[in-house]
Amino acid sequence: MTRAKGFFITFEGVEGCGKSTQVRRLQERLVRLGRDVVVTREPGGTPVAEAIRSILLDCAHAGMRPMTELLLYAAARAQHVAEVIAPALDAGKTVLCDRFADSTTAYQGAGRGVEPETVAVAHRLATGGVWPDITIVLDVPVELGLARANASCGPDRIEQESIEFHRRVREGFLALARQDPRRVLVIDGTGSEDEVADEVASAIASRLVS
Ligand SMILES: Nc1ncnc2c1ncn2[C@@H]1O[C@H](COP(=O)(O)OP(=O)(O)O)[C@@H](O)[C@H]1O
Ligand SMILES: [Mg+2]
Repeated sequence: MTRAKGFFITFEGVEGCGKSTQVRRLQERLVRLGRDVVVTREPGGTPVAEAIRSILLDCAHAGMRPMTELLLYAAARAQHVAEVIAPALDAGKTVLCDRFADSTTAYQGAGRGVEPETVAVAHRLATGGVWPDITIVLDVPVELGLARANASCGPDRIEQESIEFHRRVREGFLALARQDPRRVLVIDGTGSEDEVADEVASAIASRLVS
């Protein structure tokens, strides 16, 4: 179910594909166009969800089970949707979110092997039906993304996973785009920041009702 008034855009893709960079770039463009924009991220976006984020990304928690991970992401998302995303959409705002439920499908589903039915239950519980209008998957080879991500700071618990894990995640995002091509748009993330920003803007422009 999509909220009647606002517009919900999510950015997805492997580590270092350029999500945070492109969320900022699109925010600048949309604000210039006069839109009321809320920028947020997952896991996190509220104090409770940011606390859960630090549990999830802590390298000390190497023994975390896939089901625990799934439920913690879902718990953070439930708080984030209720406290930030749904109220903003209800108020008619454009919400840009750096990762959302598709990351759970790709990481805990394709990456960790949690059953699709179980992931679907977690999505239902966490989102209450609040779902993106458009999702941009920035696609890059995982080696390029990890090299970009690790250049800025040390790897977190998820970034530390094997190349094979990250490849399954990348494939998970591409599979989502094949399943739902109207919502999930794949954009080549290997170009320059400006090139990617232009592609994102034109992909969004045709879909944004003013
Ligand atoms: N198109 C690009 N080309 C080269 N470097 C980029 C590009 N987009 C982002 N970066 C850099 O790569 C790193 C990861 O980008 P970021 O936006 O944080 O990725 P993500 O949020 O997907 O992990 C940052 O240091 C960023 O400045
Ligand atoms: Mg980021």
